[in-house]
This record gives sequence, C-alpha cells and structure tokens, in this order.
Amino acid sequence: MMSTGGASQTGLELVDRDESGVDRAFRADVLKGLSQDHKAIPARWLYDDAGSQLFEDITQVAEYYPTRAETEILTDRSSEFAEAIAPGCAVVEFGSGSSVKTPLLLGAIGPAAYVPLDISGDFLRASAQKLSDKFPGLPVYPVEADFMRKVSLPAQVADIPKLGFFPGSTIGNMVARTSVDLLRTMRDTLSDSGGNTAQLLIGMDLIKDERVLTAAYDDAAGVTAQFNLNLLRRINRELDGDIPVDRMRHIARWNDDFARIEMHCEALENMEFTVAGQSFAMAKGDTIHTENSHKFSRRSASTLLLAGGWTPVRRWTDSAGLFSLILAEASINRSAP
Ligand code: AVI
Repeated sequence: MMSTGGASQTGLELVDRDESGVDRAFRADVLKGLSQDHKAIPARWLYDDAGSQLFEDITQVAEYYPTRAETEILTDRSSEFAEAIAPGCAVVEFGSGSSVKTPLLLGAIGPAAYVPLDISGDFLRASAQKLSDKFPGLPVYPVEADFMRKVSLPAQVADIPKLGFFPGSTIGNMVARTSVDLLRTMRDTLSDSGGNTAQLLIGMDLIKDERVLTAAYDDAAGVTAQFNLNLLRRINRELDGDIPVDRMRHIARWNDDFARIEMHCEALENMEFTVAGQSFAMAKGDTIHTENSHKFSRRSASTLLLAGGWTPVRRWTDSAGLFSLILAEASINRSAP
C-alpha cells in the first residue's frame, strides 16, 4: 500500500531553471568552482541520470567494497537490529532508498511505516512503488524534499518513534562542517512533540590500508573514471562547454591529513576551454577536485555524531572490518559537567 499522499514540501519543482532550461545552481557552482585557484566542483553534480547509473555500476565492481560490506552487516545482524531498534517505529530514509539495503532493514525490524525523502520526485516515486510492492502491508509516505533542510514529516507518523536511515557512508562525501549541520538537521526532522527519542542508523566507512581505498576509487575496469569524467561531459552538454574530456584523466588519491579519498580530473596537457561563455585555462597536471570520501575511525565517527547531536549506542562491522553501521540516539541537550 503506497500512500497517495506523497507530500511535496513546496508543490513546485525543486530545481530552479532559467528560460533556456539550465539549472541555475549547477551553472553557478561550476563557474565559481572553475574560477578558483584550487578548481573544485561540488560532488552532488556527479549525479545526473548517467552519473547515477554509473554509481550503480560502481557498487558492482570487485574493488568497491562498501556496498557489499554494508549489505553483509544488514543481512547477518538482522536479529540484533530488531532487538536494538524501537518496535513500531517509522523508518525515515534520507535518500530514495537502495533496492537491496532498504528491504533488508525493513524486513529485519518490521516498522510501522516507511518515509523516503528525496529531492528527485521521479526517482522517489519509482523506488517507493517498488518497496510498496515488496511490502504490501507497509504504509509508505514518500516526501519530495531537500533533506539538507528540516523536513516536515507526514502527519500519519507524527506521534510514532522515528528511525532515521542514512546508509552508504554518504555522510563521508561532506566536509565536517556540512556533515555536522546535516546531522543536526536530521535530528530536527526526526524530533516529535510526543517525547519519543529519535534513533539514527548511519553507515560510516572505515579507515584502512591505503591500497584497498585507492583501488576502490580507481577500479581496473575504469567505471569510477567514467563516473568522474561524466561530470565534465555533463558540463559540456548542459552548460555549452568545450572541455576536452579525452585530454583529462581520473585520479583517486588518499589525503592522510583529512582521512579522505579525493577524486580529481587532471589535465594531461595545457588547455583552454569555455563554459557558459566564460574562458578558463589549465596547465598540464592541474586538477579539478570533484569529490571527497571521508573515512572514519571508531573515535572520529563518535566525535562527528556527538558534534551533530547524536550519541552512538551500538556499532556493527562486517566480517572483514571494512565498514561500520552505527546506531545513535538523539542526545539530550544538557550542560556539560
Ligand atoms: C555515494 N558515496 C558514498 C560514494 C563514496 O564511496 O564516497 C560515491 C563514490 N564515488 C566514487 N565511488 C563511489
């Protein structure tokens, strides 16, 4: 049973386009990012239709362990989730949901309702429908919204305890300042007037051997390279650009100071190009920084969650110790001792 009451926060399309259909925020981010000395474009723009499909393909490549490791935890520890998570809760997923991980969680804990939140309405409705088909008795209330801001949840789940679900270590794609803001916003979204303590089940990838990490982000088949370079193709297509994509290469490097994998597109030769009527130059070896994927230790994961207003209460890892799923509870606001 999918609720027909899929709520939209605004009732309007969430993407702001100009008269020729160009996404204004995309153009502004690209032009600003290419104008800096350290050229950088926010990673969210990697996910057009082609990029989203390429990311799905990445989850299948041998070197990319996070999806398999997290799925293993969800499969093998299902009875422990059922024990630790408030019975009769509403699962609120930040993102449209994965066809593999979400059913595993829902099957394990038998929630009272499922509320996926996503900015992309079409994708949201399609994946919500698939879930409804799989769990015919479960009320599903999709909400089209930007979860980086506080979201008003459907009235039907107002008074039941909430479990936020944010798998995949997507939190690692944000810098610390943004991830703390998001965790605090999630707490606001999940809080209710009934006094229920919200819970959050969040995937956080772990620091490990640098070779394992770099291979996961630079697979031998070149799928991640295509994912990264697709951003340049998207710029050329949507912003009337002429970046010579075949003269750029994908790089994944471990930055130990920031405990993160960085993806860059590197110029193989000196080049000049235009995007949306503006000219840019890159020297051979210059890069455009396109993504960070932060990795965590047990302590740094706890520190981040605590800074975001969440107290970790349980932690699971896969059998190889590559990835963690952490259950946290909304912290009570009180003065320090
Ligand atoms: C979506 N996110 C958690 C992925 C990651 O592992 O950081 C994105 C990704 N980038 C390259 N490969 C996968």
